[in-house]
Amino acid sequence: MPTDLLGLLLRHRLVPVIALNDAGHAEPLGRALVAGGLPIAEITFRTAAAADAIHRMATALPELVVGAGTVLTPAQVDAAVDAGARFIVSPGTSARVLARCAERGVPALPGVATATDIMAALDHGAEIVKFFPAEAAGGLPVLKALAAPFGQVRFVPTGGITPGNLASYLAHPKVVACGGTWMVKTDVIDRGAFDEVEDAVREAVVLAAR
Ligand code: 3PG
Repeated sequence: MPTDLLGLLLRHRLVPVIALNDAGHAEPLGRALVAGGLPIAEITFRTAAAADAIHRMATALPELVVGAGTVLTPAQVDAAVDAGARFIVSPGTSARVLARCAERGVPALPGVATATDIMAALDHGAEIVKFFPAEAAGGLPVLKALAAPFGQVRFVPTGGITPGNLASYLAHPKVVACGGTWMVKTDVIDRGAFDEVEDAVREAVVLAAR
């Protein structure tokens, strides 16, 4: 059954964006996310370990919803879905990537930073979009301006989200969740400090629930 992306985002309100250098870290990291109360992970194709990491997480932890991030090509959509990814995130809006996601029956979260990007996403049936890079693209004022003409569009701001600005983004009625790396930093994962990840995740979950 395809993932209910909107339901998933509304339930957790956070998308941890993860770059794993070592697929061997996938399972302990997944356990830290689940233990911290955030059973969702976006594993980015920024590292060569991505597909293997998705496979290991999805196989070992069926309660964790694993998606793929930084998906730039149809071939990466295939690699991600074959590995077990249940949603696809891209930094921008690509008709080819969205078409392949539709073919594979997997929900897509394309990136947008302009009204033109949003119209392209809508052309391909995507009504939930990643506002990226949120802070560098102008932050909440730009998100508010973009949300106004597109009543049906929901946003997942990502890029520059921190514990300090999370609440203000989540308070916007069209924001369903925020993404980011702050609770799953690659250097902490590289050190194997999964208890630190779990603590950071738990704190983020508390903040997001406020
Ligand atoms: C992404 O790929 O979604 C972003 O790099 C996350 O941005 P952040 O590191 O500022 O959270």
